[in-house]
Amino acid sequence: MAKRKHGSVPLKKDEITPKPLYDSRRKFLKQMGFLGMGAVLASCAPAPAATSAPPAEPTGGLATLTGLTDELGNPLTDYNAVTGYCNFYEFTTNKEKVDEQAEDFVPEPWSVEVGGLVNNPRTFTMSEILETFDQQERIYRMRCVEGWSMVIPWLGFPLRQLLEEVEPTSEAKYVAFQTAMLPDVMNGVNSMMFPFPYLEGLRLDEALNDLSLLATGLYHESLPPQNGAPIRLVVPWKYGFKSIKSIVKISLVTDQPYTMWNTIAPQEYGFYANVNPDVDHPRWSQGTEIRIGENQRRDTLYMNGYADEVEYLYEGMDLAVYY
Ligand code: MTE
Repeated sequence: MAKRKHGSVPLKKDEITPKPLYDSRRKFLKQMGFLGMGAVLASCAPAPAATSAPPAEPTGGLATLTGLTDELGNPLTDYNAVTGYCNFYEFTTNKEKVDEQAEDFVPEPWSVEVGGLVNNPRTFTMSEILETFDQQERIYRMRCVEGWSMVIPWLGFPLRQLLEEVEPTSEAKYVAFQTAMLPDVMNGVNSMMFPFPYLEGLRLDEALNDLSLLATGLYHESLPPQNGAPIRLVVPWKYGFKSIKSIVKISLVTDQPYTMWNTIAPQEYGFYANVNPDVDHPRWSQGTEIRIGENQRRDTLYMNGYADEVEYLYEGMDLAVYY
């Protein structure tokens, strides 16, 4: 297979569809078959099998109407599904309630501390981030480890650009990320069910790949609270749990950092978490997925369809071992 240049972005940069003008989100979700499903869905925690993934819904939505697609021809997932069906355990484990629970989360003022093994440690305010880094539109597929997926038009900038500003030293091998912990507004962090703060990590070369995005918006607007306002990671070739939300701290480190899911259940949620239909979750197959808005399961793509851009990162590694 002909390799594309590393760092090329396989993205269609057509005009992003404006968010739909639906007034009644709940009515919409009901029509889409979402309401009432929360209790049976697999969570990223030790969870029921993939047979409990979202049920079939009629194909449709604004993306289909406008014909806007990713580079493989997949229509965008409807705005109301992207923002109404979320995983953000600091608020609640009920995917349909995250938006309600996060209503009082006002992500400002906000700053992101970037430090560790770098020459220029720096704390960026959100305004500095938006002024310093040009925001790009990128349409990425997102595949949750639970077996559902979406196609989302993000706004953001390559993580690499932020790392270049702080200049990692030669000892830096990994990048560790941390989510805010705000018990006053995040009801879930008081539940003691999970060892918050939510932590994630990438190997430095993964972080420098052009696909690794720091997202500040979606569907042409600032990130809604439930999707990780005001800034989150998006790593489209990895399961969604790697895409940590509402980041307050980024540290360059020597050793592979602890991550929340890997700490809770290392046999189920690996550090690498590359989307791989050939490596099943211990309790369900990863061979297929439900694309939200579609009727039938579809085959899961190796590296979520981004192999040409990222497989060089894993040359010589047994991905059943480094899952
Ligand atoms: N980040 C934090 N801080 N807390 C979370 O619970 N959930 C992860 C990831 N990032 C999560 C998080 C999981 S499991 C997924 S699938 C994606 O966010 C979901 O992103 P979305 O809700 O914007 O679709």
